[in-house]
Amino acid sequence: MNIPFEFADRLEIPLIVAPMFLVSNPTMAIAACRAGVIGSYPAHSTRTREIFEEWLIETQNALAQADDAGEQPAPYAVNLVVHPSNARMEGDLELVIKHKVPIVLTSKGAPDDVFNMIHGYGGVAFHDVASARHAEKAVEAGADALIAVAGGAGGHCGTINPFALVSEIKQVTDKPIILAGGLTNGQDLLAAEAMGASMSYMGTRFIATEESLAPKEYCDSLIEGKATDIFLSAALDGAPANWYAPSLVKAGIDLDELAVTRPGNIVTSDGQSKQRYKGIWSAGHGIGATREVVPVQDLCEELISEYQAARTNLRQQLG
Ligand SMILES: Cc1cc2nc3c(=O)[nH]c(=O)nc-3n(C[C@H](O)[C@H](O)[C@H](O)COP(=O)(O)O)c2cc1C
Repeated sequence: MNIPFEFADRLEIPLIVAPMFLVSNPTMAIAACRAGVIGSYPAHSTRTREIFEEWLIETQNALAQADDAGEQPAPYAVNLVVHPSNARMEGDLELVIKHKVPIVLTSKGAPDDVFNMIHGYGGVAFHDVASARHAEKAVEAGADALIAVAGGAGGHCGTINPFALVSEIKQVTDKPIILAGGLTNGQDLLAAEAMGASMSYMGTRFIATEESLAPKEYCDSLIEGKATDIFLSAALDGAPANWYAPSLVKAGIDLDELAVTRPGNIVTSDGQSKQRYKGIWSAGHGIGATREVVPVQDLCEELISEYQAARTNLRQQLG
């Protein structure tokens, strides 16, 4: 592993379990960290600032206990939308600073004062980017690493092929890269390292876990899914995102209409527009790797042994 951060020796594999709105929570993050994988959740998954603080305290207490028991858990991370459109940004940032969140996964704008504040208490900030231009701006603003969100990622995604994206980012900066989009197993983590990434993100692979907040129907339905069931559209909330097509159809959305609908103008089959739906689910191209609902710890252990086996195999192949 080539991870230029102090926490590197606490990681079993170069992986961050990605923050997922209404899916990740402290229980998931704690289980991942205790397995030697960075766990995370978005601040905006909590309804209020008070609940966000409860989540932070729960996470820190559990990890401190694990530390006291000699476990050496991985650090945890919190996703913060650092854009003026996020009305809670200031309050959530205050809590991040107060509780000295070790890793902050920032998304949307890249304001340098936010990065300065995170560095001020000793935290590190990894910023979401979907192009080399985004990466340049984030580095100028002071981001410590870049999360390269490639095409095929779950949630709000990039659209660029991961090889092309990593290689263009490497042309503009030598900051560490965390690759996101479609990674599902230990071999993928090693492949990302071979491409020049320091670490990787996995989101979709962790939706169907026992600890996740995703409803049972969502988890179960992913088991049936294949990459061809993923539908890319900016029409639902204005930004390109990958959606699980069967959930769109079930909600009454006509996919042919959706394909030609302008960003933010969700459509229904009867022509009614701009309605927010429940039961519309997101997933990335890696959906096909979901075979059953498993505990986070088991999934992490599977990924660790796959990663180790992949390294051994590659060494043998290279002689
Ligand atoms: C259901 C779902 C919700 C997500 N919510 C967020 C979020 O709130 N904040 C964020 O930065 N990324 C979010 N993402 C994106 C992930 O953090 C990550 O970039 C993505 O899952 C990586 O691609 P993969 O799903 O192919 O592993 C979400 C992804 C999914 C699948």
